[in-house]
Amino acid sequence: MKVSLIGGTGFVGSHIVPALIAAGHVPRLLMRDPASGRGLPLDQCEVVPGEVADSAALAECVRGADAVIYLIGILREFPSQGITFEGLQFSGVERTLEASRAAGVGRFLLMSANGVKPDGTPYQRTKFQAEEAVKASGLRWTIFRPSVIFGPPQGRMEFCTQLRRDIIDSPLPAPLFYPGLLPTGAGAFQLAPVAIADVAQAFVRALTRPETEGRTFELCGPEPKSWKEILATIAAAVDKRKLMLPAPAIGVKTAAALFDRFYWFPISRDQLTMLMEGNVCADASAYPLLGISPQPFTVESLSYLRAG
Ligand SMILES: NC(=O)c1ccc[n+]([C@@H]2O[C@H](COP(=O)([O-])OP(=O)(O)OC[C@H]3O[C@@H](n4cnc5c(N)ncnc54)[C@H](OP(=O)(O)O)[C@@H]3O)[C@@H](O)[C@H]2O)c1
Repeated sequence: MKVSLIGGTGFVGSHIVPALIAAGHVPRLLMRDPASGRGLPLDQCEVVPGEVADSAALAECVRGADAVIYLIGILREFPSQGITFEGLQFSGVERTLEASRAAGVGRFLLMSANGVKPDGTPYQRTKFQAEEAVKASGLRWTIFRPSVIFGPPQGRMEFCTQLRRDIIDSPLPAPLFYPGLLPTGAGAFQLAPVAIADVAQAFVRALTRPETEGRTFELCGPEPKSWKEILATIAAAVDKRKLMLPAPAIGVKTAAALFDRFYWFPISRDQLTMLMEGNVCADASAYPLLGISPQPFTVESLSYLRAG
């Protein structure tokens, strides 16, 4: 199959692309910056230079494709630079659907996220709107909603690499966030980190499995972990002992209110809100359907952190 990827140059794309090639498919990448192709097997890909906002480039990227995978997503917006959730996570999807229909592409896979909802943060809301647009598109669609994804970053940013850099390697104690005024349940909220290899396989296998069409799948690791357990696992993976102390979320949110429009500030208010909502799955039906046995989140599975 010829598979067009919009947003295929990031962390997730850098794993889906080789998985597509290994399965005998030909990836075609929309690439806005030649530098973003670093580490990708570009000699086995087709490349279309351009932006998702460029209609001609988008049309060229999906022309003659058998399937399209939309992966663009951001965690923070910078409207003064034209980087918005609305533009990249909703309008970009609508434009790609339109281009796909015009080009006669039948199959469309959307990367969404676990926990998206119509009344959530702008990240969650625009991904929810994109899901609705995909469902109404008339194309043969599949939507994936992963929890946080871990695995070798391939020179890009990844959940555990970022936590290691911002929290574990910091001289400050690790923050066990808690809502409200009392530190009860500090750091107890749960996530279910899913391995990038499993996410990549889910996308690749779904392409050729008609039984996944018209379905939305959550993708989580096999076992939820508390925030505290996640930090402890990352610290153990890099042989560090880390002091952890309760930290009121309100304090971080106040600082983020002042600074989160700057790239250097590590987290936005909305990111902290989504983190503390927890991120676990209610449904694991994708795995038996796709023949995947999801990898656990352990010290061993984080061995890639030692390289960084
Ligand atoms: N990573 C996770 O833990 C996780 C969990 C759940 C869902 N997701 C979703 O998975 C998708 C991929 O995530 P990722 O971790 O691979 O993110 P990533 O590494 O930041 O890659 C994002 C992709 O979007 C493109 N992109 C970013 N900003 C853009 C802009 N202003 N204009 C055009 N393209 C832009 C990037 O292109 P460049 O290479 O040119 O920058 C890259 O191809 C996203 O939709 C994300 O919401 C990720």
